[in-house]
Amino acid sequence: MAFPKGFLWGGATAANQCEGGYLDGGKGLSIADVMTAGSLNKERENTLVVKEGEYYPSHIAIDMYHHYKEDIALFAEMGFNCYRMSINWARIYPNGDDEIPNEDGLQFYDDLFDECLKYGIQPIVTLSHYETPIGLYTKFGGWKSRECIDCFVRYCKTVFTRYKGKVKYWMTFNEINCLEMNSWNGAAMLEEDLQTKTQAAHHLFVASALAVAAGHEIDPENKIGMMYGGLFSYANSCNPADVQANIDTMHAQLFYCDVMCKGYYPNYKLKQLEREHITIQKEPEDDEILMKGKVDYLAYSYYMTLVAGEKTAKAELANGNLFTGYKNPYLEQSQWGWQIDPMGIRISMNELYDRYNIPLMIVENGLGAVDELKEDGTIDDDYRIDYLREHIKEMEKGINIDGIPLLAYTPWGCIDLVSAGTGEMKKRYGFIYVDRDNEGNGTLKRYRKKSFYWYKKVIASNGADLD
Ligand code: BG6
Repeated sequence: MAFPKGFLWGGATAANQCEGGYLDGGKGLSIADVMTAGSLNKERENTLVVKEGEYYPSHIAIDMYHHYKEDIALFAEMGFNCYRMSINWARIYPNGDDEIPNEDGLQFYDDLFDECLKYGIQPIVTLSHYETPIGLYTKFGGWKSRECIDCFVRYCKTVFTRYKGKVKYWMTFNEINCLEMNSWNGAAMLEEDLQTKTQAAHHLFVASALAVAAGHEIDPENKIGMMYGGLFSYANSCNPADVQANIDTMHAQLFYCDVMCKGYYPNYKLKQLEREHITIQKEPEDDEILMKGKVDYLAYSYYMTLVAGEKTAKAELANGNLFTGYKNPYLEQSQWGWQIDPMGIRISMNELYDRYNIPLMIVENGLGAVDELKEDGTIDDDYRIDYLREHIKEMEKGINIDGIPLLAYTPWGCIDLVSAGTGEMKKRYGFIYVDRDNEGNGTLKRYRKKSFYWYKKVIASNGADLD
């Protein structure tokens, strides 16, 4: 068993969860910088401004802003040939709508990309990963305003031009469908009603399509994808009512992929909007923009699956990163209650490829767990190795049995970082342990976990050696 030649093996992070340096080099505040720390049972609070005396995990995070050379050297040691990361938009346009970009911010990513390329690591860049400049919220109320489109496109054109020849793979909005559940992360706004969210989604779609077109024009070598927050659910039973309920659940999420991969709104969505008296304010050119700005590939996160169906007395809710659904009695769950489903990764590949027929990337996957740093500096994270091994096995079947063009695999949080959902540090995903706790204490020293050496072997054998 082996993966195709040239397969991209790496890991994934997001700027706001690892960089820190939240005001360094002229950076402005992003929507992540006003989120406090929470836990599984305590929601993170959005304070809208930075309050004195409050702890904000993104402000220092794991301080990759100052440690990136050391961190990239560790990625290189594992054999990464790609690294998925995000540009923190507020480093480039501190207020979101500035006339000219911030040179210090641009230089930071120039240096970081050069450092990656030095080791043959190809950056795969998310343009917006839950880090819209907060200025776009204070000035325009976030993505419900059409003004955000121009700001985003200006930012994209700046980075496409600056990093031409250094970056080939881009994706526009991380987990764009998260807007369905979380307006702040998804669209830098507070409203959760369907009318406002639908309008904001339309602006995101138009902005993404314009960015795709601009990216192709600036460099025809560019490949620009979308990023789907992988919700995959099974029907609770073969009762047709459960099957229909599952289709409805999936429609609410796949709608985002339908628009971005096919270039138009699907009928089921148009009918829903009609039924619920929701109107989308469109400019006359929007439909053409969507059609001309279809994405080149579909990247997605895959952690878990859920069950959907008619609500019954027995149906128990499961936890999830963005979504909830019912528990699946056939699956185990993580310490944070996420249901672990390796076979589901192959099922998800088939569902998405059959529907869109474009290459896929799995840009997030992994197990958030509590790790123990032993006195001798080692961490035995066999549970993480088991999780990843089983998922990689199924991914390989998707490629070699089902013939699906999967371009890349970048497990989430390849180095420990702040959890997006809870703001915790103790929910760790990394191959590299970072000495920092939930309250911001620790030396920030990096340690190689057992999974570090295991993943190194996986990459060196191009996925053939999973033991
Ligand atoms: C995805 C996000 O939803 O899941 C990441 O794109 C996030 O930003 C990841 O960190 C894992 O979720 P969590 O809540 O465990 O950090």
